[in-house]
Amino acid sequence: QKQAALAAIADAASLDALEEQRLAALGKKGWVSLALKTLGQMNPEERTAAAPAIQSARAEIADAIETKKAALETAALEAQLARETIDLTLPTQAAPRGSVHPVSQVMDELAEIFADLGFAVATGPEIDDDWHNFTALNMDETHPARAMHDTFYFPDQTSEGREILLRTHTSPVQIRSMLAQGAPIRLIAPGRVYRSDSDATHTPMFHQVEGLVVDKDIHLGHLKWTLETFFKAFFEREDIVLRLRPSYFPFTEPSVEVDVGYSTEGGRRVVGGHGDAPGHAWMELGGSGMVNCRVLEFAGIDPDEYQGFAFGLGIDRIAMLKYGMNDLRAFFDGDPRWLAHYGFSP
Ligand code: PHE
Repeated sequence: QKQAALAAIADAASLDALEEQRLAALGKKGWVSLALKTLGQMNPEERTAAAPAIQSARAEIADAIETKKAALETAALEAQLARETIDLTLPTQAAPRGSVHPVSQVMDELAEIFADLGFAVATGPEIDDDWHNFTALNMDETHPARAMHDTFYFPDQTSEGREILLRTHTSPVQIRSMLAQGAPIRLIAPGRVYRSDSDATHTPMFHQVEGLVVDKDIHLGHLKWTLETFFKAFFEREDIVLRLRPSYFPFTEPSVEVDVGYSTEGGRRVVGGHGDAPGHAWMELGGSGMVNCRVLEFAGIDPDEYQGFAFGLGIDRIAMLKYGMNDLRAFFDGDPRWLAHYGFSP
C-alpha cells in the first residue's frame, strides 16, 4: 500500500491530484490514519512490532507529498513566466498630456507680481446680483451704462429683491471686499466675467483682473506707478510706455483708460516704446481711475478719510500680447495642438 501511494504521489499531475493523494493516505479517514488508530487496540508487544512501519510510512508519505508539492509549484511558476513574457522593444503608445493654459499661467504671474507689491488675491461669485454688479458701483436702475454691459440675467430669479445675473466685470469684488474688510485695502481679483457678445475679439465669457487700493492720501500717481511697475514686470521690458487717456466709468472719478505703446514685428504685436513713435501705436488694456466717493459710501467707507484707485484689465488680451496669440476664440477651444504651438506643452 505504501509503494502504491508513493507511486501515485510521484505521478500526480496537479496540486489538486496531489491533495487527493494526501487525503487518501494522511486525511482523517486515510489509510495511514486508520492504521495508526489500530495501534491503540493492540497489546504492547504487537504495538512495538507494528508501530515503526506505520510511523515511517507516514513520514515517508508526508515527505514525498512535500517534495512533489514544491516541484509542482515551481513548474507552475515557470509555466506562468514563460507565458507572460514582456517585449520591452515594442513601441509604446504616447499618452496625450495637458499643459497649463495661458490664462491660468497669466493669472499665476499676476498674483506673483502683485504679491511683491503687497496685494492680496480676492475672489467673488460669478453669479452675482444687480446691486453688487451695478447699483453699488454707482449705476442705478436707470443708468444707461447698464444697457452697455449686455448682461446675462437669470429670468424670474431674485435674491432679497435683487436681480440675479452673471457678473459683467470683476468690479463687484471691490464692493464685496470693502464691505467685508473695510479700509485700508490692497487687492487684486482675477476671474471670469460674462457678456452677451461674440465675434473674433469677443467671447461671451472672458477674464478680467480687478485691482483695488484704498488708503489715506491715495492719488492718481499711485495708480500710474502701480500699473507701470506691474506691466514692466509682466512683459519683462523696461521700455513699457503707458498712456492714461481721460474716460468715463460710473464707479471712478476721474476715470482713465490705460493704453500701452507697441509695434508690429513680423505680424506679431510687441509691447514697448512710445505709441506715437514711428512704427508704433497704442493699444487699450483696460479701465481705471480713482474710486468714486459714492462707491466708497455704498461700501461703508468714509470718503473724507480714505481715497482709492481701481483698475480692470483684460487678462485674455494681455495673455495674447505676451505669448503672441491672435485669435481670442482659440483660447477657449481646448485644442492641445494650439497650446503646443504657442509653447504651452507639458
Ligand atoms: N469694470 C470696468 C469694465 O469692465 C473696468 C474698470 C475697473 C474701470 C475698475 C475702472 C476701474 O469695463
